[in-house]
Amino acid sequence: MSTILVTGGAGFIGSNWVRLRRETHPDDRILNVDLLTYAGNLENLEGIDEGPGYRFLRIDVADRQALEEAVDEPVDAVVHFAAESHVDRSIEDASAFLRTNVIGTQTLLDFARARGVRRMVQVSTDEVYGSLGDEGKFTEMTSLAPNSPYSASKAAADMLVRAAHETHGMDVVITRCSNNYGPYQFPEKLIPLMISNALEGRALPVYGDGLNVRDWIWVEDHCRGIDLALDKGRAGEVYNFGGDAERTNLDVVRGILALLGKPDSLIEFVEDRKGHDRRYAIDFSKAARELGFAPTVSFEGGLERCVQWYRDHDSWWRRIKSGEYMNWYETMYGDRGDA
Ligand code: NAD
Ligand code: TYD
Repeated sequence: MSTILVTGGAGFIGSNWVRLRRETHPDDRILNVDLLTYAGNLENLEGIDEGPGYRFLRIDVADRQALEEAVDEPVDAVVHFAAESHVDRSIEDASAFLRTNVIGTQTLLDFARARGVRRMVQVSTDEVYGSLGDEGKFTEMTSLAPNSPYSASKAAADMLVRAAHETHGMDVVITRCSNNYGPYQFPEKLIPLMISNALEGRALPVYGDGLNVRDWIWVEDHCRGIDLALDKGRAGEVYNFGGDAERTNLDVVRGILALLGKPDSLIEFVEDRKGHDRRYAIDFSKAARELGFAPTVSFEGGLERCVQWYRDHDSWWRRIKSGEYMNWYETMYGDRGDA
């Protein structure tokens, strides 16, 4: 049995990972450390009950003292998801990104080292590599060139994780994944925002010309990759994960409308995002070769499952959208209007 401290386990990817890990490794004990910010939601963990295999701790990862006091048992491994994760929010105000993504990661590294944790997995993003032109893909050798405060803060965190390995000999693995989609994604991100807006009969705000490309991965495929990195990754290495599914934003939005039987006229072109990365595409051959990683869900199949999930979980996203989130939504789109 291993005790795994997971951070950000009440968010989108973290909660999917907790659910998957409980299924695949029922003997593990999971300590879920999450501050429950606007993006953290205990409803994402419905059906996962406190007990010998699972414990929830509401803690800020940047608060070392709180971590020391609350975690009163040996920890074998840390899987670090907790982050401020939305690019648009980072453009408005980067301060929380620096605290959580940068200071939080160093705090966790210090904590893990002091506790003699066997391994820490840093869950990072392909966005640290910057933006691609029409050709090529990101490999683990691509230089870091982040363009948003979000991606810059993730790149800084990755560098601190690397430094902990080089300086202190810590056993760390960094994973860099492309855009995830699936159940429990906060409806500020493209796919759940567009599905829920279409279901509400609202406009679908597409930034710029809608031709920016993202490489989509079904969230459980990413979670499987993280497990492979945790269990089989080489210390100090970086592994890219992707879904082999490059699509323009317009393709994604039109696909959602078609699945819902809604008209394309709901699409509204709005002012572009500042510093908007044009294209992401991931070369995950290293993870395939060394870890046996392969995405299992096609984009078309995944999008259909995803749309169905949001249809079936109407009350989940409606509760989010009716609360504090709406104030944010107004700040983001209220003064944007048509492009
Ligand atoms: P999310 O915003 O849905 O969830 C983040 C979680 O972290 C929330 O539960 C939140 O409460 C928690 N959190 C935030 N600040 C905290 C703090 N100071 N202390 C403790 N907990 C805190 O994010 P997500 O989409 O699930 O992303 C998870 C991780 O995966 C992030 O590190 C992100 O950079 C990375 N990632 C995301 C994607 C993607 O497509 N969403 C792709 C690649 C990598
Ligand atoms: P997002 O889900 O924010 O992920 P990221 O910026 O981390 O890739 O956005 C995905 C793409 O969708 C990105 O090119 C921006 C675009 N987008 C829109 O066109 N409209 C929107 O309302 C949002 C949230 C995103």
